[in-house]
Amino acid sequence: MRHDRHSPIGVFDSGVGGLTVLKALIERLPLESTVYLGDTARVPYGTKSGEVVTKYSLANADALLEYGIKVLVVACNTASAVALPALRQALPIPVVGVIAPGASVAAATTKTGKVAVIGTPGTIASGAYQQALASLRSELEVRSQACPLFVPLAEEGWIDGDVPRLVANKYLGEGLLSEGVDTLVLGCTHYPLLKSVIQAVAGPQVTLVDSARATADRVAEVLHERDLVKKERLATERHYLVTDTPNRFIEVGARFLGHSISGARQIDLKLRG
Ligand code: DGL
Repeated sequence: MRHDRHSPIGVFDSGVGGLTVLKALIERLPLESTVYLGDTARVPYGTKSGEVVTKYSLANADALLEYGIKVLVVACNTASAVALPALRQALPIPVVGVIAPGASVAAATTKTGKVAVIGTPGTIASGAYQQALASLRSELEVRSQACPLFVPLAEEGWIDGDVPRLVANKYLGEGLLSEGVDTLVLGCTHYPLLKSVIQAVAGPQVTLVDSARATADRVAEVLHERDLVKKERLATERHYLVTDTPNRFIEVGARFLGHSISGARQIDLKLRG
């Protein structure tokens, strides 16, 4: 389908988490229409192999292309970590992931040159953040830690109190942040919801980096470079697509987006090959 300035921005994630990225996009580019796809039938991606996440990512992209999107935003860190090359090769439109923008903020933030990255097991195992940081500043010392339990905690709304604090202490307290780490990358869509607990455990000397805003800035640049910025206030649309029934997405998603979601359409994905 052809696209122009009035075409929507497509965003996908494994589920509700990418709504933190959509929120930043809407704040940065309020006039743009958006189509968000949460692959709620297949979530989580963070514990699946790169091969499977790539297959799902291509199917998500194909479904969004049917809406005539002008740019694809891969809001899921795990999919950004493993599927960007395949997506860029397969799609006729620009593809923006969350890892390069997050890494560039972290590289610009650290003064000690010691950065820690937390994410899903898939993101951490891929080494994508480590590579992105090394390509920006090869002298950086990067440590990483998978924090899989943060995802269900954020979805349950357990974002403060004893349980998330104990979990954060376990993940962050065993050496990850020792010896001068001053920057911690929240390398997963869900972690911004746990920001206050993570900051309390990490201490005031550590700056938390959330890639959502940096990703929105990158999308704005891409649209500008290609003369695809929508300038009129009229006809800004928000569409939400899901692959499982919509109820839980609508309920939990409101917390991630910061306001209610009026409805979501359930679709089936077609896997390639
Ligand atoms: N959206 C995923 C990410 O940012 C977290 C949830 C999942 O594992 O699917 O990596």
